[in-house]
Amino acid sequence: MVKNRKIILKNRPVGQVEKANFDLVEEDLREPDIGEILVKSSLISVDPYMRNRMNSFKSYVAPYEVGQVIEGDATGTVMQSNSEQFGVGDIVHGSWGWQEYATVQENSLTKINVELAPESAYLGVLGLTGLTAYFGLLEIGQPVEGDTVVISGAAGSTGSIAGQIARIKGCRVIGITGSDQKTEFLEKELEFDAAINYKAWPNVRKPLMKVCPGGVDVYFDNVGGDISDSVFYLINDHARIILCGQISQYNQGRISTGPRLHSLLLIHRARMQGFIVYDYRKKFNEAISRLADWLNSGQLTNQVNIIQGFEQVPDAFLGLFEGENIGKQLVKI
Ligand SMILES: NC(=O)c1ccc[n+]([C@@H]2O[C@H](COP(=O)([O-])OP(=O)(O)OC[C@H]3O[C@@H](n4cnc5c(N)ncnc54)[C@H](OP(=O)(O)O)[C@@H]3O)[C@@H](O)[C@H]2O)c1
Repeated sequence: MVKNRKIILKNRPVGQVEKANFDLVEEDLREPDIGEILVKSSLISVDPYMRNRMNSFKSYVAPYEVGQVIEGDATGTVMQSNSEQFGVGDIVHGSWGWQEYATVQENSLTKINVELAPESAYLGVLGLTGLTAYFGLLEIGQPVEGDTVVISGAAGSTGSIAGQIARIKGCRVIGITGSDQKTEFLEKELEFDAAINYKAWPNVRKPLMKVCPGGVDVYFDNVGGDISDSVFYLINDHARIILCGQISQYNQGRISTGPRLHSLLLIHRARMQGFIVYDYRKKFNEAISRLADWLNSGQLTNQVNIIQGFEQVPDAFLGLFEGENIGKQLVKI
């Protein structure tokens, strides 16, 4: 009988997440009951928010239990079906997480059409990170043509899509990212107006002032910490700050307190707003069809970083905190 392999949370990380926090375990595969489907994974997503679910306290979603498989987005093929909605061979998307096979409820899956877009796009541009970029930028950032939009974590999955949408909207787009290879990618491949390697500067305020002579109208923040402090000094009156993520803080045992910059928000009557992509669930279909149009017309790039092999899933996840990915980080099984 075929065995399933899955990666579970072995113990909760304290500060920096490590490989020792995970375990790879084998189990017998369960036959699908009525209304259930057996799926074989083909692409597994690793995402920064998973680090927060490894803590014991609840945020907007419940923490993982110790011993539990790491849940998250994946795509795969239906191997066995006890559901009228899915047939063997269908390609599906779900959230069964870090496992090679899964027996899941029919209502937890959606079929994907690989003739419309590659399977990987359903975990990136047309998946949760594409939707995060879309709603964060358009609903909270409300960019208008000619605005200067600064994006941190700009070469990652969410950042690279947010920057491309800002460009489609006629904005000047500046990316902040962690290597020269990434700045080159942003400027040459994605046609950002400028990109800054934050690791090459003691702080990014100086290079930012150079490329944002008219200040910053919209800041799409994926990282927080010192990088965001530097951007705050350059915000214009009525700037919009999109609090999408704070990855620089996720592995901190204690939240760093840093300089207090709220007076800058006050002086500039700026608006800083956090959001969770699921807040916009009712508008997902409308957004996906717009993102798909941009993808098919070549205005958006489906940039993915694919690592091969199920055993590599924890390394791919740890790599997010080292900046090893350009675009959406996925693992091919
Ligand atoms: N609000 C929501 O609903 C929502 C939904 C999805 C994601 N998010 C958030 O959006 C952000 C991006 O997520 P993603 O899935 O698109 O991941 P990602 O950007 O593809 O990958 C993470 C990137 O963050 C950068 N990074 C890692 N540690 C850093 C640090 N200490 N300082 C500065 N940059 C650092 C790295 O790039 P560099 O080489 O540039 O350092 C890395 O490639 C995360 O903060 C995530 O939590 C929010």
